Amino acid sequence: MQLAALAAFAISAEAVSQGFNYGNMFADDSSKFQADFEEEFKVAKTLVGTSGFTSARLYTMIQAYSTNDVIQAIPAAIAQDTTLLLGLWASGGGMDNELAALKTAISTYGEEFGKLVVGISVGSEDLYRNSVEGVEADAGVGVNPDDLVSYIKEVRSIIAGTSLADAPIGHVDTWDSWTNSSNSAVVEAVDWLGFDGYPFFQSTMANSISDAKELFLESVEKTKSVAGDKEVWITETGWPVSGDSEGEAIASIENAKIYWDEVGCPLFGNTNTWWYLLQDASPTTPNPSFGIVGSTLSTTPLFDLSCNSTSSASSSAAVSSATASGSSSGHSGSKPSGFPAGATGAGAAGAKPTFTAGRGGYNGTAYGNGTFSVRPSGSASGVGATSSGAVSGSGSGSSSGSSSGSSSSSGTSASSGQGSSSSSAAAAASSSGVYTGAANGLASSLSGAVVAVFVALAAL
Ligand SMILES: *[C@@H]1O[C@H](CO)[C@@H](O)[C@H](O)[C@H]1NC(C)=O
Ligand SMILES: *[C@@H]1O[C@H](CO)[C@@H](O)[C@H](O)[C@H]1NC(C)=O
Ligand SMILES: *[C@@H]1O[C@H](CO)[C@@H](O)[C@H](O)[C@H]1NC(C)=O
Ligand SMILES: *[C@@H]1O[C@H](CO)[C@@H](O)[C@H](O)[C@H]1NC(C)=O
Repeated sequence: MQLAALAAFAISAEAVSQGFNYGNMFADDSSKFQADFEEEFKVAKTLVGTSGFTSARLYTMIQAYSTNDVIQAIPAAIAQDTTLLLGLWASGGGMDNELAALKTAISTYGEEFGKLVVGISVGSEDLYRNSVEGVEADAGVGVNPDDLVSYIKEVRSIIAGTSLADAPIGHVDTWDSWTNSSNSAVVEAVDWLGFDGYPFFQSTMANSISDAKELFLESVEKTKSVAGDKEVWITETGWPVSGDSEGEAIASIENAKIYWDEVGCPLFGNTNTWWYLLQDASPTTPNPSFGIVGSTLSTTPLFDLSCNSTSSASSSAAVSSATASGSSSGHSGSKPSGFPAGATGAGAAGAKPTFTAGRGGYNGTAYGNGTFSVRPSGSASGVGATSSGAVSGSGSGSSSGSSSGSSSSSGTSASSGQGSSSSSAAAAASSSGVYTGAANGLASSLSGAVVAVFVALAAL
């Protein structure tokens, strides 16, 4: 048992996904094209002070403003050797187009696509939007659990026998949607649970940065408690670098770094994690803004990503100093007066995704034509790209790359959250390596091994 556990640990450590969320539009709702995605993926892989951000979570399979054209993040991921947590936008009646785009992607890109897909998410925060909190927050159209279960079955049947056959299928939602027992059929239907949680928005509780790590860990534990033996993947979390406060939570670069150090650093390399997010501030800056590179897509982040201070005393010192002004230090959920539940949109449980960047737009559609910007939660973030750079949107041009062509420099693309990719490390079969960079070729065999070890453990 001990050996088996060690083996499982060693294997899974190799296969862990680490990346960002990426929408299919820029902040002005203009489309992201292949070169834009390539530039984001490349920047993610080459961020100063860190490494390993080689995976991209998408919210939709559909290129922005098309009916069901395949999102250009897929050829971009192939070009940049970036793994994918794919997403299908399930709300708003567009599933048939999502499924059509999924089929087209499989037939067009086949094995080189399949080997990059670490997972597929059927939906994003659809249950949240249908919840009491989501309705109060006017978050948009959602999906009920039974329909999600049907969609999951459809996706299973579509990928059977294809290059994506081994991709584990999940669903992404706010953690308090997972813990709502009315949604248990979805837990039963998935292979893994995608956790979205933002202590920043848990404004009915004491949610200053000094409470954030504890709130995050509590919400993950609550999610795991309903997950049974299924994995919980961290599909969205982050802390804004700018914007209005939410309860005791203050948006600032300093606090975003503390959250990265205390919450992100222990996750990276250990738990599948897609941070929210690389960039959301091009060409305009949303409120709040979560992007770690600011308005210029550059490999130089707004704060030190090196994780050097993780778990050190200095970070907690930083925490207290950062939060000293403001709130009463209460840790135990004292509700800040003046922020009645619902007033700020964050519900009791707090995982509330109302912020603009990347959240579902009107009527829950994730694509559409400019008029209704539908931007699924968490839009754009990119993970590792290699060095050839592609377009930089607004003029940012990150240094390194050579820009290959693409997108115009005017910076118009939009990324709205759809699209995701999943790669199954596990699933993927072929050889070329899911994880960019290192470990090429290991992924597929590793994942098979992981499955085998879990089976062995279960038998014990
Ligand atoms: C729990 O989930 C059900 C089904 O998705 C939803 O209708 C209900 O509003 C949720 N409860 C709360 C308190 O949000
Ligand atoms: C973090 O640690 C690495 C390795 O010790 C070091 O090279 C780097 O300069 C450190 N970064 C910061 C910002 O201290
Ligand atoms: C959303 O759907 C409602 C009902 O179908 C429709 O009247 C409304 O125009 C839609 N809004 C948008 C922004 O598409
Ligand atoms: C968006 O819709 C408008 C009005 O229907 C149309 O004129 C325009 O061409 C559409 N744009 C795209 C990119 O489809």
